[in-house]
Amino acid sequence: MTNSSVASGNYLLGFDVGSSSVKAALLDTETGKIIGSAVSPAQEMEMIAHKPGWAEQAPEDWWKYVTITSKTLIKEYSIDPADIAAIGISYQMHGLVAVDENRQVVRPSIIWCDSRAAEIGSNAFEQLGSKYCLTRYLNSPGNFTASKLKWVKENEPELYKIIYKVMLPGDYISMKMTGEIGTTVSGLSEGILWDYEQQGLADSLLEFYGIDERLIPNTYLSFDMHGKLTPEAAEEIGLKQGIQVSYKAGDQPNNAFSLNVLEPGEAAATAGTSGVIYGVTGDNAFDPKSRVNTFVHVNHNSGKPRNGVLLCVNGTGIMNSWLRKTLGTEKKPDYDQLNKLASKAPIGADGVTILPFGNGAERIFENRDLGASVKKLNFNRHETAHLLRAAQEGIVFALNYGFEIMGAMNMQFNTVKAGHTNMFLSPLFREAFVNTTGLTLEMYNTDGALGAARGAGYGAGVYTTYEETFSGLELIDRIEPDSVIRAAYQESYQNWYTLLQFELNN
Ligand code: XUL
Repeated sequence: MTNSSVASGNYLLGFDVGSSSVKAALLDTETGKIIGSAVSPAQEMEMIAHKPGWAEQAPEDWWKYVTITSKTLIKEYSIDPADIAAIGISYQMHGLVAVDENRQVVRPSIIWCDSRAAEIGSNAFEQLGSKYCLTRYLNSPGNFTASKLKWVKENEPELYKIIYKVMLPGDYISMKMTGEIGTTVSGLSEGILWDYEQQGLADSLLEFYGIDERLIPNTYLSFDMHGKLTPEAAEEIGLKQGIQVSYKAGDQPNNAFSLNVLEPGEAAATAGTSGVIYGVTGDNAFDPKSRVNTFVHVNHNSGKPRNGVLLCVNGTGIMNSWLRKTLGTEKKPDYDQLNKLASKAPIGADGVTILPFGNGAERIFENRDLGASVKKLNFNRHETAHLLRAAQEGIVFALNYGFEIMGAMNMQFNTVKAGHTNMFLSPLFREAFVNTTGLTLEMYNTDGALGAARGAGYGAGVYTTYEETFSGLELIDRIEPDSVIRAAYQESYQNWYTLLQFELNN
C-alpha cells in the first residue's frame, strides 16, 4: 500500500474523528482554501464510563458520523464525488480498537482518556526498567494502547482470543473505507509500540505483555497510500470508489501538521476535549517521569528523524462543556455566550480556583486521577461568571504546569501556533494562555479536518512541497504577552499551584 499514484480532482476531503464529534472539511486543491465543513453529531458524543476512570466509545458510531458528515458536505456544496482527489484522516489518539477475522469490533473502543491500564503500564515501566523503556520507547508504556490491550488479555481472555488485529481509531476508519488493515509508524509510537532504538516494532514490550506480534497490522508512513475506497464504502459515504486514503495521523501530530509545525523549535497547541502543547524536535527527547510524551511526527523518516513532545491535559474543553451542560436548565448558553459571561469576572476569578482534572488519569501527574475540584468559592460573592472564568484559567494553568516540565527537557519555544477553533475561540482563554505561559500565540484559519485534507493532498502527490500544501494557510491574529496583565496571571497561577500542591499531597 505504499505507492501513491498522483491523484487528480478539484477537492481534498479531510476527516477529524474526535471524541466529541466528527468533523469533515473540503478543500479546494487549486486555491488551498476551504469550500465548507460539516460536523456530526450536533450534540457532543458521549464517553461511556461503566466504572470510574473508564471511557469507551463504539467505533461503529465514529463511522456513522463519518458517513453523515461526508454526505452532508457533498449535498450542501453540490460536489461531484468524482472530483475528490484524496481523503485524509485525523483521529483521537491512543484508543484501542480490536477486530475479529470478519473485521467486526470485538468490544467497544477503550479510548485515550480511559485510565484502566495505568497500573499495568507503570508496572511494566518498573519491571522492564525505566532506563530500558526510556531509551527504547522514549516513554513509560503508561496508559497507552499496548497497556490497554494487555488489560483486555488479562480481563477479557475470551474476547482476546478472537482478536485478529488491533488498531487505532483512525486505522479503523481507514479500514472501513478501504477494506485494508494498516497502521502508521506515528500510530505505533502512540501506543508505545515503536522502538526508537531499533526503528521498528517494540517487540520487547509485546513479549513482556505476552501479546502476539501478529495482532499488529502492517505499518506505513503517515503520507502513504493507505488503500482505496471500496464500492461498499463509497456507497455508504456518498463518494466514488477508488479514491485513495493518502494520509492518516493522530489528532495532535495532525494539528501540528495543519499549522505547518514540522521543524525543531516549532510548537502547536489544541484545546479541544483535551488540551495539548506539541513541540517538534529532531532528538530522541524524553521526560524521565514520562509526564509529557514523545511520539513520532508525521514527517519523520529514518534519514531525518522528527518527533513531537506532547503535553496533554485531559480535562480541557470537556471541563468547559461540562459546566455548560450543568449550569442552568432549559436553554443552554452557546460557547460564545459562556465566554462573554466568563470575562465579566476579573483575572483570578476573585480567588475561585478550579483544578480541571475530571477526565481520567492525567499524564502530567504520572497518571494519577485527581478528579476536578473547585476551591475558595464564596456564596455571597461569586456567581456563574467566576466559575466560568476559573474553569478557563484553570485549564490554562494546567497547561502551563505541563509546559514547565517541557522547559526542564530543554524544549524552548517563543511562539505557539493554534487553529482558530475550540477553546482558542475564547478571547479570555487566549489572553490567559499567552500571559501565563509568556508565549506568543499565532492563530491560523485552520483546524484538524482541514489539516487532514491538506495531508491527503501531500500524501497523494497533489502537492509536492509544503509550501504548496500550506498556500491557503493564513495568520488571523498574533497575540503577545503584556507585562501588566502577565503579572496578574502569574499571581493567580501561583495561587492555583499552591492548591494543586495541597491536592497532590493529600
Ligand atoms: C493526546 C491525547 C488526546 C487525544 C484527544 O496524547 O491523548 O489529545 O488525542 O483526541
